[in-house]
Amino acid sequence: MYGDLDKVLFEEEEIAARLDGLASEITADYQGLDLTVIAILNGSLIFMADLLRRIPLPLQLDCLRVRSYYSGMVSTGQVTFDPQTLPDLRDRHVLLLDDILDSGHTLAAIIDTMRTQVKPLSVHSCVLLRKMKQRARPVEADYVGFDIQDEFVVGYGLDYNEKYRNLSVIGVLRQE
Ligand code: IMP
Ligand code: MG
Repeated sequence: MYGDLDKVLFEEEEIAARLDGLASEITADYQGLDLTVIAILNGSLIFMADLLRRIPLPLQLDCLRVRSYYSGMVSTGQVTFDPQTLPDLRDRHVLLLDDILDSGHTLAAIIDTMRTQVKPLSVHSCVLLRKMKQRARPVEADYVGFDIQDEFVVGYGLDYNEKYRNLSVIGVLRQE
């Protein structure tokens, strides 16, 4: 798998150090609040597991399976998921976790549905990576691990055709 990378952007140690920082921000902000973290599957699984073990709060965890339709490496803008799979969150503060903020379609669609249908006390979001680019939907993440160039990356949960999720580093996939 490493041979398919053009370059490594973040080694394991760098990711771990950044997670320490993110976790202490989140821990400070959600002190005393009823927090439910919602991990967007599958990309945020590894990020979620490593991040949440650094947050010493009595939080709850849920997962949301979302399909965003891709043609190759580009989002088509179609995002579907079923909010009915979520528990009642009306008395909870929700923190959405995703692997990467790219076009913004995924996060924008989930935040919209949260606010209009699920109606938790608050909705914020945390992404491990944020691509620096013009987004199709105006959406900002409240917590960001790393800003990266607009390149297709894999590893640490991120896939290309469901491959490379179990790489422990984050890297740019070689063209072809
Ligand atoms: P968005 O809806 O375009 O913001 O993209 C969000 C989803 O697209 C992420 O949760 C990823 O699953 C996928 N994605 C976007 N960019 C990349 C990338 O560079 N590598 C792997 N997956 C990506
Ligand atoms: Mg994906």
